Amino acid sequence: VEAAFQPKYLKGKKVLITAGPTFERIDAVRGITNSSSGKMGFAIARAALEAGAEVTLVAGPTSLKTPVGARRLDVESSKDMLAAVNAAVSKTDIFISVAAVADYYVLNPSEQKIKKDAHILTLELAPNPDILANVAGLADPPFCVGFAAESENLLEYGEQKRRRKKLPLLVANQVQSAIGADDNEVFLLDDHGQHKLPRAPKQEIARAIVQYTAKLYHEYHK
Ligand code: CTP
Ligand code: CA
Repeated sequence: VEAAFQPKYLKGKKVLITAGPTFERIDAVRGITNSSSGKMGFAIARAALEAGAEVTLVAGPTSLKTPVGARRLDVESSKDMLAAVNAAVSKTDIFISVAAVADYYVLNPSEQKIKKDAHILTLELAPNPDILANVAGLADPPFCVGFAAESENLLEYGEQKRRRKKLPLLVANQVQSAIGADDNEVFLLDDHGQHKLPRAPKQEIARAIVQYTAKLYHEYHK
């Protein structure tokens, strides 16, 4: 179905989305990042716009075009992403956390380019705050949707994550089949149980996820 004819499940709702990887500086020219093209998060943003939502998209470094109608905030590090999310979250109805956030940052990044030598180079890494868990733990949180990319034990790890972060809905996918690809196969995990969406292009998967999110959101806010 053409974008303009999608049902307006989220008319007037404010949806905040994180997408893409984050990038943690090592020195002036180097950094640590995660494998993520941002395609899934941007597809979710387009699907939410089609569904009538007002969309704020907090994006890590990607080469993707801004979905028409989205308010886009570009960030680099996980800490920047946390700050952008915290600044936007108070008026949010639904938070969809698609970003592949770096779990660690470099403790003492160098302002100058580090010169190579023949020795082992040791980087000290410290844990980043969990943006999604912070938002879900707020006194009056938005409806929170998490993503989990796993390389093994997909459903078990996914459900553990959903419970640990106190999420009404988590989208789980097998990393080997998702990263960088144009299609995807995901499982939706919620209090009703687990169900699989058939393999499809990311934009179609995104529409199904947004539709399901809207359904659960309206169930929670009856
Ligand atoms: N997430 C986040 N902030 C972080 C880490 C993760 O907001 N610092 C979010 C992701 O956007 C995703 C969910 O938490 O929606 C799960 O991310 P994932 O990396 O799969 O889980 P982690 O809790 O980081 O556990 P691990 O990487 O060890 O599997
Ligand atoms: Ca992680």
